[in-house]
Amino acid sequence: MGGTLLSGSGGNVDYWDLKRNTQVKHDILSGYLERWASILSGRRTKTHTNLHYVDGFAGRGRYREGEPGSPLIAMEIGQEMHEHRGGSLDLYCYNVEENADNFKSLKREVDAVRSLYSSVEVLNFPGSFQDYADRILGEISADEDTFVFIDPFGYRGVELEQVLKFLQRRRSEVFVTFMSRYIGRFMRDSNREAAMTAVFGTDEWKKLAEIPAASQQSGAVELYGKQLQEKVAEMGKDLYILPIDVSFEDTKADIYHLIHASQHPKGRMTMELAADRAKRLSAQENLFYDPQVPIYALEALRDAPSGRMTARDLAGKIWLRSWYPSWRKDIKEAIRELEVGGEVTVRAHDGRNRKTGIEERDVVVLNGGRH
Ligand SMILES: C[S@@+](CC[C@H](N)C(=O)[O-])C[C@H]1O[C@@H](n2cnc3c(N)ncnc32)[C@H](O)[C@@H]1O
Repeated sequence: MGGTLLSGSGGNVDYWDLKRNTQVKHDILSGYLERWASILSGRRTKTHTNLHYVDGFAGRGRYREGEPGSPLIAMEIGQEMHEHRGGSLDLYCYNVEENADNFKSLKREVDAVRSLYSSVEVLNFPGSFQDYADRILGEISADEDTFVFIDPFGYRGVELEQVLKFLQRRRSEVFVTFMSRYIGRFMRDSNREAAMTAVFGTDEWKKLAEIPAASQQSGAVELYGKQLQEKVAEMGKDLYILPIDVSFEDTKADIYHLIHASQHPKGRMTMELAADRAKRLSAQENLFYDPQVPIYALEALRDAPSGRMTARDLAGKIWLRSWYPSWRKDIKEAIRELEVGGEVTVRAHDGRNRKTGIEERDVVVLNGGRH
């Protein structure tokens, strides 16, 4: 992606040739939305579920060779899930596109599939996401689940305040394209100082200049995620962050990040699965290993009033301390290690034979009580 990185103009002409990195992003998005809709509409306490999908930087609707863009991907999933759930799920989509030419294309493409995906209600807004955010929030009932996709070309639109508007709502989550690859360059450009401070919600980004260039990209992601987490903590809530690296040209040297921020450990867990599938990673390929994971687990159990919690809630406590341990490998292995060492007992939630491994609803109990 070349062009004017902060302007977010529609002038990125070759962007609309679908590239592999965009395909991976779409695969993660669709894999996640399917699971998200399935989980939220499968709750026994609900007879009908309304879900909301906000596409703040919606694009043209389709790519050059006719491949669906994010707004059409969401519509298709909404219709599939509506049918799968016998009509008890409805998806509402809100698309915002600032570039007039792109908006025209978006509107045409959405209108062309409305009858195919007739259960899905779609509103298109011509203009900037920043200008429409409050209006869209006004359309959505505060107690209904909302997924917000923030996918600009550059940094404009990912400013902390903008993202936090949505995270104020208990049932909202955000998925942000974070162009971490530009950070080194922008840091040295005095014209971008105010814009960078708005992105991070602090001028602490200036410290990134002091760390080696190779670590600046991940440092920027860490700072951004940490800022989101801190501001949401000030609202009295937990936020689970998962940064996903996506390579532009299948090389580890040229990457950007997608940052998922949800208010429930199940969201973090589900996004990990969608990302691993899309990137075709197996649990074994996950290179992360943090020897602290079993220690975090023990500490969380000691803090729990009853000395026990479900494996999923325990994973949530671990993710509040470190974003990277995977559920599929690191956390399950840590629980297993504690079990073998006699420090915890794992109770199967469904009475099954525990040889089949650990499931998220299994209960992990601290042996010998809390010390
Ligand atoms: C990366 S593309 C979006 C691709 C789309 N999400 C997809 O996956 O198919 C970014 C789009 O955001 C638009 N845009 C740029 N600034 C914007 C703003 N402030 N508000 C809304 N749209 C904007 C651009 O014109 C462009 O079409």
